[in-house]
Amino acid sequence: MSHHQHSAVSTDAEGKKHLTVLQSLDSATVRKLHHEYVMPATFHYYPESLVLQRGEGMFLTDADGVKYLDFFGGILTVSLGHCHPEVVGAVREQLGILGHTSTLYQNEWIVRLARELAALTPGNLQQSFFTNSGSEADEMAILLAKLFTGRSEIIALRHSYSGRGMYAISAMGHGAWRPIAPVMPGISLMPAPYCYRCPFGLSYPSCDIRCADDVKEVIATTTTGQPAAFIAEPILGVGGFITPPKEYFQKVLEPIRKTGALFICDEVQTGFGRTGTYWNGIEHYGVQPDIMTFAKGIASGMPMGATITTKEIASAFRGLTISTYGGNPVSSVAALATIHVMTRENIPERAARLGNRLRQGLLSLQEKYPLIGDVRGMGLMQGIELVEDRKTKEPASKRANLIIEVLRKRQLLIGKGGLYGNTLRIAPPMLVTESQIDEAIAHLDAGLHQVSAS
Ligand SMILES: Cc1ncc(COP(=O)(O)O)c(C=O)c1O
Repeated sequence: MSHHQHSAVSTDAEGKKHLTVLQSLDSATVRKLHHEYVMPATFHYYPESLVLQRGEGMFLTDADGVKYLDFFGGILTVSLGHCHPEVVGAVREQLGILGHTSTLYQNEWIVRLARELAALTPGNLQQSFFTNSGSEADEMAILLAKLFTGRSEIIALRHSYSGRGMYAISAMGHGAWRPIAPVMPGISLMPAPYCYRCPFGLSYPSCDIRCADDVKEVIATTTTGQPAAFIAEPILGVGGFITPPKEYFQKVLEPIRKTGALFICDEVQTGFGRTGTYWNGIEHYGVQPDIMTFAKGIASGMPMGATITTKEIASAFRGLTISTYGGNPVSSVAALATIHVMTRENIPERAARLGNRLRQGLLSLQEKYPLIGDVRGMGLMQGIELVEDRKTKEPASKRANLIIEVLRKRQLLIGKGGLYGNTLRIAPPMLVTESQIDEAIAHLDAGLHQVSAS
């Protein structure tokens, strides 16, 4: 590629004008340019990175024309699949009407979305603040909790992930995702409800949820006794779909509430129907958050973060604040279209039904392959933790990488996660069909077979 092709428009031999920004490059060229011009900090899946070019529903096509069945949805983000016609239609139309306002001005789409969020979240959560990402949504939640309580300490979970902000990096429950030492003081990381690798060496249910009980000791030994908030994901996503037992949140929140701290529920991965039956993951646990955060699936792929809370807590923010792109009209209509389609297709019920089929498939693979130590998750958010030996539970991290690679060759994309990188994360767009689930299970079966033998 010549360095002179930088203008946005080129003219071909017949004098027709083309947008060069839409020009198609092959995978090798993209990889080369990426290496030269994009920071190496960016983490990619696969030893030879996958260069994507097109998406349609459950499928992605790479820059060399290979088509993949997508069971990771851009990290649980394209809720309705790639380029859903109703989302694309809304975005296209909105871009031609008004694409940007900034939060200095009001617009109708953002208030309609905020009203929808108030209706879709539990209790009296009513007022939202919109940003562009999950990181910013969590930063806003932490800030609000500190302003409302007049306190500064935060309790988070080991194995948790909150994104890229300075708070998030400080509270990161994974060393590998923390490039610098925590810069924000006053964060306590308490043991996670990770039953498969119980931090107390106990087993559920005879453990009596010892990990939740530990919050009392965390408060007494690592805080002033007056924390501002406890923040948790209903299922720890990046942590490898760690799924707390059903009594966990009730038990952990009791001592938290006694101190006067707030509960921030991070629904960035679990929100918008993903866990099945309910719109929000936390509804499976019968507790009421004070603040909730959303991103990823909220707008089916358009950038958006949202922080919702009660009117009382929201009123504690008295300084000035803006988010230039937060709640921009284009992302807002993408979210409105997503909610419209999700409601019509009854996605929470669908995620429960298809998630159950996926779960049954994974459980039958667990019977067949000793490599699968644990199957966990809810709805269309299912993980399998791979171990070399079911007794020692030695993480099968290398084999996890191998399976991901084998599945790529079989044209199935899935995710990976967990502290040891040995948990396969399976979370397809939620309009996935039964036969696509069966197809993915068949590919996993073949992948596990091949990798178990190696
Ligand atoms: C639970 C959770 N919270 C927050 C974030 C940060 O979101 P973003 O990458 O949009 O900043 C993520 C991203 O993976 C997440 O999984």
